[in-house]
This record gives sequence, structure tokens and C-alpha cells, in this order.
Amino acid sequence: MTDTRTPSRRTVLAAAGGLAATPLLAGGFSLYAARAGARSAVELDLSAHALAGARRNFLLNGGDAAVAGCAHETVQADSFEWLALSRCEFDVVLLDPPSLARREAEREGAVKAYARLATLGLARLRPGGMLVAASCSAHVSAAEFFEAVRSAAQQSQRGFREWRTTAHPVDHPATFAEAKYLKCIYLRVG
Ligand SMILES: C[S@@+](CC[C@H](N)C(=O)[O-])C[C@H]1O[C@@H](n2cnc3c(N)ncnc32)[C@H](O)[C@@H]1O
Repeated sequence: MTDTRTPSRRTVLAAAGGLAATPLLAGGFSLYAARAGARSAVELDLSAHALAGARRNFLLNGGDAAVAGCAHETVQADSFEWLALSRCEFDVVLLDPPSLARREAEREGAVKAYARLATLGLARLRPGGMLVAASCSAHVSAAEFFEAVRSAAQQSQRGFREWRTTAHPVDHPATFAEAKYLKCIYLRVG
């Protein structure tokens, strides 16, 4: 995905580097984390094709010592099911699902699904870890999405600090409200 290239991926790189992280990440984000010094990364996706592409990207970047030194694992699973069953812990959990609302009628269900995913992701974070939650649903506004993730964090009762939110990169601009589908929020948890 090129649309999340900046600022979100670069922001993950900065976060992961600061944490020397063991992230649970998706797609291109894990490569950025590896380049920032992550010792290991687990990528979870429903699609075997997507995971094969992720493994290939790591191989292609193997000339980078940091990438070569990162233990990269791929898991083919449903993220809701895997996160609910897993007892693994991570320094960074990045949630980057596909659009969960392809039409307006799906907006309410999508907001609940984002909150559920955030709750599951927060439960897998080590103390001091970072939740990175992204949305590409045009029918869910940034305000609705951020509120869903913040509410999940509040209900987790772990204590958290919002680090930042990001939107479209400069080379993928949105010039009218309906075009603003990308949003991402970063929470550091206690
Ligand atoms: C927005 S893309 C992620 C892009 C990725 N972050 C990257 O940088 O390349 C969403 C991904 O979620 C996967 N997906 C869809 N439904 C899923 C589910 N229920 N559980 C796990 N992965 C799912 C899709 O196969 C797709 O690869």
C-alpha cells in the first residue's frame, strides 16, 4: 500500500526504533520497524498472498543489516480470532484492517469493529507499548474512528497517553471531505 507510506509508516519506524520493539504488524509497516531496529516482527493477515508479499519484501531488503537481523514471522489467521486467543505480548501492535464500511449502512458496525479490534490489540501490549490503529474506511470519519479507539483504551483501564494522529501523506492529498479516508492514531499504554 503506498497511501499509508507517509506519514504513518515513518511514524511507526520512529516509534519502533524508540522501543526496540517486538511488533505485531501488518504489511509494509513491519519492514519499516525492522529497519528501525525491531528484533522481531509478527505479521498477521487472512491472505496467504499478502503474507507471501511481506516475506518477499523482507528477502529483498536483506542487504540491510537491521532487516536481516529481525526475526520475521508470518501468521495466516483472522485478526479478531487470533488476537482473542493469543497470549503473546508485543511492544507495538499495529492494526491496519481493510475498509470495514464499504457503504454508509455499515458505518455503525464498522465503528464497533474498530473498537473491538483496538480492545483486542491493547490486551496484547506490554506495559509502555504502543497501539497504532489505522482506518481506511471513507464512511467512518476521523473523529468517529479516533473516539472508538480512545474509548477502547479508556475501558481497558490501563492508562494511556495519546502520542499523535496522522492522516494523508503529502503526495496522496485529499482535497475535499469525502476523500479523507486515511487516519491513524498512536496510543502509548501504561
Ligand atoms: C489495509 S490492508 C493492510 C496493508 C498493510 N498494512 C501494508 O502495509 O501493506 C488490510 C489487510 O487486511 C487483511 N485482512 C482482511 N480481513 C482480515 C481479517 N479478518 N483478519 C486478518 N487480516 C485481514 C487483508 O488481506 C489485507 O492484506
